[in-house]
Amino acid sequence: MNRPYIICHMVTSVDGKVTGDFLSAPECAPACEIYYDINRSLQADGFICGRVTMESSFTGGYTPDLSQFKPVQHDGDRKMDYMLDEEDMSGFYAVAFDPKGKLGWKSNRIIDPDGDPGYDNAQIIEVLTEQVDKRYLGYLESMGIPYLFAGETEIDVPLALFKLKNIVGCSTLLLEGGSIVNGYFQRADAIDELSLVVAPLLADKNDKPLFSDSIPAAFELVNAETKNGNLVLTYKKK
Ligand SMILES: NC(=O)c1ccc[n+]([C@@H]2O[C@H](COP(=O)([O-])OP(=O)(O)OC[C@H]3O[C@@H](n4cnc5c(N)ncnc54)[C@H](OP(=O)(O)O)[C@@H]3O)[C@@H](O)[C@H]2O)c1
Repeated sequence: MNRPYIICHMVTSVDGKVTGDFLSAPECAPACEIYYDINRSLQADGFICGRVTMESSFTGGYTPDLSQFKPVQHDGDRKMDYMLDEEDMSGFYAVAFDPKGKLGWKSNRIIDPDGDPGYDNAQIIEVLTEQVDKRYLGYLESMGIPYLFAGETEIDVPLALFKLKNIVGCSTLLLEGGSIVNGYFQRADAIDELSLVVAPLLADKNDKPLFSDSIPAAFELVNAETKNGNLVLTYKKK
């Protein structure tokens, strides 16, 4: 397989939603704890999240002032990937699917306030499209944040995964939401395993499902157990 093995690891409501207030309800706290435990135990090479999730979980909506940065010029129109020297790359990555380059990072590693080893100190990698402002590339380079190009306006999931395997060296990555990025992966047939913690709650009608705009697919249930009032499920792609 010329891409990393992808495990989509998520907390869901009983009605299969993954966004919204149910996630912060006290009744969902045990599911979140189980989710973080599994996240650590899977020992992947890193995790992937969409721009919205990275913003809500890690950057807090900070935006850099791009007027401070010089545009990065590449030969011709096509932009080049940017990697750090091997010794400066950690073995654990936080991969942000950020097509327009909106995320404002204050460090080139994730700083998790709780020091959770499932996230803390992960090396940030930005996956971008050709739409990005070239000054954003200057900002990323000044921060020591590697970036990969995959696509013109939408992120080409197979190309991004090809690069994550062959340039970065990732063998297994966790896909950790939200609904929109999960949907892009599902439609690209790039999900090998589902790891779900189903919390005993119903979500709001406006909350989003596990995959936005999914297409039909079959999975095989390989494990099901209950933990502290939650259902913990593992499915593999058939
Ligand atoms: N239940 C759980 O386990 C769990 C886990 C993680 C997150 N969440 C929840 O999910 C919420 C956010 O989910 P969401 O579905 O709204 O957003 P999301 O999937 O986190 O991010 C979506 C954004 O990512 C970018 N993107 C991702 N893949 C792309 C592709 N292939 N091509 C182009 N753009 C791509 C786009 O950014 P632009 O908009 O910049 O174009 C898109 O709008 C969070 O607030 C959090 O509560 C839940």
